[in-house]
Amino acid sequence: MNKYSAFCAAVAGATLAACAGTAMQSTESEKPPFGDAASMAFAADLWQAMGAAGLRGSDALHGTPYTGQHPHGAILDTLDTTLTVAGRQGEIIVKRNYGGEGVSKAAVADDPGRYLKAVTVMFRREKGYDPDNADWFWVKYLPDGSLDRNAKGMALAGRVAKGASQGCIACHRGAPGGDMVFNNDRY
Ligand code: HEC
Repeated sequence: MNKYSAFCAAVAGATLAACAGTAMQSTESEKPPFGDAASMAFAADLWQAMGAAGLRGSDALHGTPYTGQHPHGAILDTLDTTLTVAGRQGEIIVKRNYGGEGVSKAAVADDPGRYLKAVTVMFRREKGYDPDNADWFWVKYLPDGSLDRNAKGMALAGRVAKGASQGCIACHRGAPGGDMVFNNDRY
C-alpha cells in the first residue's frame, strides 16, 4: 500500500472527492519518475537553452573551479542563474564535474573542456511539478549533451530517482535549509 492509499484507508471518514483525488495521485506516482519520454524531451530543450545562454560549450561562462565531493567530480564549478526553457523562466544551477589524469583547479581553469566529465543540472520547473522536492528537475548530461543512464539503462532526467534510497533526490534531501541545495540556502 502506498502512502496515498494508506492515507485514504486511515481517514475512514474522508470524503469521496478527497479519496478520488488521492487515488489519482497514486496512479501518477506509479509512472517512472524519470527517464520517460517527456523528461528526456525536456532535458533536450534545457540543453538547447543552456547553449543559447552561454551556459555550456567552449565559450561558456565558468565559475571558479573548486575541489569537489563524492559523487560529483574531483574538481567542480557551479553557476546559478535563471533561464527560460520552453517559454518559462526558472532558476537553474549548473554543476560541471571534472576529472581524469592530471586534473587540478589550475588545469581546469586553463582548459575546462579537456577534463569535463559530466554536467549535472537542477532546473526549477513549474509549481506542482514535484512539490515534495521543491519542483526541481534533475539531469545528468555527458559532455556531448547525451544523457547519462543508471545501471538499469534509465536516462537520468526528471525526478531522479524519486522514491529510491540513492540518487540525486535522496542525497540532496540532506542539504541544509530544506531547498535541496547544498551550496547555499537561497531558494
Ligand atoms: C551522494 C550524494 C549526492 C548525489 C547522489 C547527487 N548529489 Fe548533487 N551534490 C551533492 C553535494 C554534497 C553537493 C555540494 C557539493 C559541492 O558543490 O562541492 C552537490 C551539488 C550539486 C549541485 C549544485 C547545487 C548544490 O546543491 O549545491 C547540482 C546542480 C547537483 N548537485 C546536481 C545533482 C544531480 C543532477 C544529481 C543526480 C544525477 C546529483 N546531484 C546527485 C551530493 C549529491
